[in-house]
Amino acid sequence: MIEEIKNIKEEIKNIKITSADQLENFRIKYLSKKGKLSDFFDWLKTAQPEQKKEFGKPINELKNLLQNTYDQYKAQFDSADNALTNELDLTLPGNSINTGTKHPLTLIQEELTGIFRKLGFAIADGPEIEDDWHNFSALNFPDNHPARDMQDTFFIDKEIALRTHTSSVQVRYMEKNKPPMRVIMPGRVYRNEAISARANCFFHQIEGLYIDENVSFADLKQTLYYFVKELFGENVKIRFRPSYFPFTEPSAEMDINCRICEGAGCNVCKHSGWVEILGCGMVDPQVLTNCGIDSEKYTGYAFGLGVERVAMLKYDVKDLRIYFDNDLRFLNQFKKIS
Ligand code: PHE
Repeated sequence: MIEEIKNIKEEIKNIKITSADQLENFRIKYLSKKGKLSDFFDWLKTAQPEQKKEFGKPINELKNLLQNTYDQYKAQFDSADNALTNELDLTLPGNSINTGTKHPLTLIQEELTGIFRKLGFAIADGPEIEDDWHNFSALNFPDNHPARDMQDTFFIDKEIALRTHTSSVQVRYMEKNKPPMRVIMPGRVYRNEAISARANCFFHQIEGLYIDENVSFADLKQTLYYFVKELFGENVKIRFRPSYFPFTEPSAEMDINCRICEGAGCNVCKHSGWVEILGCGMVDPQVLTNCGIDSEKYTGYAFGLGVERVAMLKYDVKDLRIYFDNDLRFLNQFKKIS
């Protein structure tokens, strides 16, 4: 009998069960009421006490071995079964959900307005189809003055045009509000320019306006310096160049050191190491008067920056036409990692 138990043990050790059917046969053969194990226990019941002593232990060991083997295979087949019935294969890669993303210009605009909001600037909006007064006359562009040529205008009729800058919102805001005022005006503007890597017939600006008593050019400089440091980091350099705008006096353009080549010289900075990012100046007293603000009491500064230009430098994009191509390969790069 010991011999028989040994043989069965040996057989079990080498057994390979590959299907639920085989496992069922295994159960019938060894573990069912008519199976081998039952035979041994039946025999044990009627055995002599010495025999019980001698065979009890090995028979119980065999029982455990058979039961464990059965249980193991059973668990294995059950989970495979489950996997099949639930069609759940944990090794399959997941289906990614294709979410949209904010346009890079929206992202940069949110970042820019966020910086000025921290400084206490409110946000104002205005129409894209503008009349001559708000886009030109109130801003000191006299009729037939060559300064109007600076801005290649899309006219709708003699009096109405697509706004060429967000300075028109400046006029609207001053007409409706009283100083002190600190406000930025983001928006789309239009100019009749030949489309190229550096220019488009429409683009986005953010104009800023601050009017109070004793506002000086130093305030303007400091605000803009803070702004570019927030945007490009502490080590950014700025320089102001004298310039001309009909509605500011004095006027300047502000450059930052080229973020793309870090001064080594590239096409974006035209090998100068500097890139212009905005125009600015002290609001001309005549403009304040035009908008109903006492120019004896108040002074103010204004600035206007091109959103695409900033985005180009920030994202290292060398052709601004791709902002409007709707090419998903480009847009997907701006998916938030968050
Ligand atoms: N409006 C000017 C432009 O279109 C920019 C600017 C705004 C300059 C405010 C000075 C002050 O380029």
